[in-house]
Amino acid sequence: MKALIIGGKGQLGTTLTQTVPQSIACRSLDLPEIDITDANAVEAVVTDEKPDVIINASAYTAVDRAEEEVDLAFAVNATGPKNIARAARQTGARLIHVSTDYVFDGTACTPYPPEAPCSPLGVYGKSKHQGEIAVLDVIDDPVIIRTSWLYSRYGNNFVLTMLRFMNDRDELRVVADQVGAPTWASTLAEAIWAAVGKENLKGIFHWSDAGVTSWYDFAVAIQEEALARGMVNRSIPIHPITTADYPTLTTRPPYSVLNCTASWRDFDVAPLQWRVALRQMLDQGVGLKALGCGR
Ligand SMILES: NC(=O)c1ccc[n+]([C@@H]2O[C@H](COP(=O)([O-])OP(=O)(O)OC[C@H]3O[C@@H](n4cnc5c(N)ncnc54)[C@H](OP(=O)(O)O)[C@@H]3O)[C@@H](O)[C@H]2O)c1
Repeated sequence: MKALIIGGKGQLGTTLTQTVPQSIACRSLDLPEIDITDANAVEAVVTDEKPDVIINASAYTAVDRAEEEVDLAFAVNATGPKNIARAARQTGARLIHVSTDYVFDGTACTPYPPEAPCSPLGVYGKSKHQGEIAVLDVIDDPVIIRTSWLYSRYGNNFVLTMLRFMNDRDELRVVADQVGAPTWASTLAEAIWAAVGKENLKGIFHWSDAGVTSWYDFAVAIQEEALARGMVNRSIPIHPITTADYPTLTTRPPYSVLNCTASWRDFDVAPLQWRVALRQMLDQGVGLKALGCGR
């Protein structure tokens, strides 16, 4: 089987590229080799590569900046997936497309099942929702996997940001009234490769690590686990604050827990509890470069 990863330099794409199963021949591309907003370029690459399966891990993920770069966010997150879906349809490739918990408005108080109505709050969520609609419009049998609060040893994410702040600052204030489920890119990559192996799988799926937390509790856990591993050298006070205390350009869903029961069963992959996943990620070590120390 031949797979094509698009967005191969992002945090999920890098993890997918490093965990390709032995039975799969894989090509991993990102900007500038492929620009998903350019339909002709996407068609040319897909026709040339002839993959059996395309995994779209590319996206515009700057949630706040999207409010000011609306056209770019929609070009990458809505038009891009449509271009990929069209190329997949033309060549007969399966498409696994990755989406987000931010397609929901966060007014629920129990985990969102895949069929729950979408009502995104900001430009990022709206553009990702449009991407899902575009993919479903173009092909009958895509796999769309929504995930939440993604982190890894690479790129920009909450865990690396907190570790950097914990080394640089004397105290932290972290939002305690937004609740979700962190997801280690490695567990998501394992789920995606499992989905690749299940050729009849189609539809919308939810995948996060198990359990629920707030950004504040997540930060406290990061500090405890980092202290235990000598990744930070002192404990600093972490203060819980409200969303209102920390205004941002976009409104984030206060509750975006995904109901992943069906995926855990259908992908045949046992979930990790989020704190166990965090420990495993930190046990792999985090380089100074990833923390932005430039050394
Ligand atoms: N990060 C999260 O917390 C989170 C939460 C829920 C869902 N998700 C979803 O999970 C998926 C993976 O996210 P991630 O955190 O791994 O994202 P990421 O680290 O931002 O990686 C996205 C990759 O896509 C590339 N890209 C951007 N525009 C492109 C274009 N026009 N053509 C081709 N590639 C382009 C980016 O390149 P540049 O860096 O050069 O722009 C980057 O390498 C996305 O679908 C995202 O929406 C993420």
